[in-house]
Amino acid sequence: MTSPATKTVRGMSIPALGLGTFELKGPEGERAIRDAIDLGYRHIDTAIRYGNELEVGRAVRASGVPRHEFFVTTKIWFNDLSPETVARRAGESLERLGFDQVDLLLVHWPTKDVPLGETLAAFADEKAKGRTRLIGVSNFTVALLDEALGVHGADLFCNQVEYHPFLSQQKLLARMRRADMLLTAYQPIARGKVSGSDLLNGLGRKYGKSAAQVTLRWLIQQDRVGAIPRSSRVGNMRANMDIFDFELSPADMAAIHKLACGERYSRFDWEPEWDD
Ligand SMILES: NC(=O)c1ccc[n+]([C@@H]2O[C@H](COP(=O)([O-])OP(=O)(O)OC[C@H]3O[C@@H](n4cnc5c(N)ncnc54)[C@H](OP(=O)(O)O)[C@@H]3O)[C@@H](O)[C@H]2O)c1
Repeated sequence: MTSPATKTVRGMSIPALGLGTFELKGPEGERAIRDAIDLGYRHIDTAIRYGNELEVGRAVRASGVPRHEFFVTTKIWFNDLSPETVARRAGESLERLGFDQVDLLLVHWPTKDVPLGETLAAFADEKAKGRTRLIGVSNFTVALLDEALGVHGADLFCNQVEYHPFLSQQKLLARMRRADMLLTAYQPIARGKVSGSDLLNGLGRKYGKSAAQVTLRWLIQQDRVGAIPRSSRVGNMRANMDIFDFELSPADMAAIHKLACGERYSRFDWEPEWDD
């Protein structure tokens, strides 16, 4: 069986499965993040926009697990992408997290307000200064990646995008594989809606897993794909990690791919023109 518990891109290995932390805020949020760490989560996804970097930093420190064992991502919001603001926001994030360095700093959404090359140069600067180990983007389309990689030669580790059985990302994935980039799937269980799929429930019965577990397994079984499901409950967090002891057959992988129907749950007026 392939061992997809870690994903290796650009020579870097990171845990394939991370904890999404949107809405995990305040004492309860911090408790949930701490529970996840106690269950073995070492990859944590936050963002300035989520307003919970303090909680993430506190949970990591209180766990007693050495900082270097974690892979922590944060993101800078789209109206803060001018070079001066990027530097300021990155510094503020580190202060809130209580870290000297994050592992991955992402452009949260693209914007037309600042030339992409300027933003990417500012991100590269943060990496050169050692304030982040890696840089990347989120919600970038093939055209935006072409510009970032081809025109600006950016050294991007990852593109974090919505990806679950109801939304195909094959075009984007093909482009990203050519560039040796990681696709981190957000809303990987379609905000819980995978539990309503007959096919996924049927496969769950076949493999002795739930629809959510089958979905997460389907994602991380794909080349260069990781996932960051969010949960506030220990039971679901544990279940979401319990996906490394079975393997979906090629026919079952293909059947899940056929569920794609262009269903996108993250829709905003600032979104780019999507590929699908
Ligand atoms: N880059 C971006 O623009 C962007 C956009 C959206 C999200 N994200 C990131 O991606 C993460 C995940 O996305 P998301 O939080 O929106 O959606 P999600 O992970 O697809 O779904 C979260 C929902 O699923 C439930 N759930 C979790 N595990 C389950 C299980 N095993 N069985 C049944 N239900 C389960 C959770 O409820 P319980 O709490 O009750 O378990 C929660 O209501 C976010 O937290 C955030 O870190 C990034």
